[in-house]
Amino acid sequence: MKIALIGEPILRIPAVSVNVEDMLTDNFCSFIHALKSTMLESNGIGIAAPQVFDPRAIMIIASRPNERYPDAPNMEPLVLINPKVIASSEEKCADWEGCLSVPNLRGKVKRHQWIEIEYLAENGDITKRLIEGFVARIFQHEYDHLIGKTWLDHIESTDDIMADSVWRQMKPLN
Ligand code: NI
Repeated sequence: MKIALIGEPILRIPAVSVNVEDMLTDNFCSFIHALKSTMLESNGIGIAAPQVFDPRAIMIIASRPNERYPDAPNMEPLVLINPKVIASSEEKCADWEGCLSVPNLRGKVKRHQWIEIEYLAENGDITKRLIEGFVARIFQHEYDHLIGKTWLDHIESTDDIMADSVWRQMKPLN
């Protein structure tokens, strides 16, 4: 599916809740499949439905170990429908993020160290989870897409923005 780039109005509109009945349709399953494929083809570790021009509150997170987070879990893509944040840590951590909708840039963003979330799983089960670190960061990044935000809205200083290619060379710690 085509990725919405920054400037597209869909990235600014709060997502709409999914009806549980709609989740049991073939259409819904094919959409989830296509969203997953789009994320994997783009080499992403997360994606949200508004990023493919769909207004529904659906996101996928798929952490995998990387240079910065060698201990990050290697997750099967996790589908979260109508996610909500129930609680979050006071402590925030700053680190660099990229986004499929904001190509070629990286931004340093502060995120809660842990958060407790509630969502509907792919099978419709109400699920609660406590997530932390890199996985919590991915969640908060994707959740932003469901409330009409991107990482750019969290930037505190223009010094906290780098070209992706420069970031890759310099690998700033935080
Ligand atoms: Ni993003």
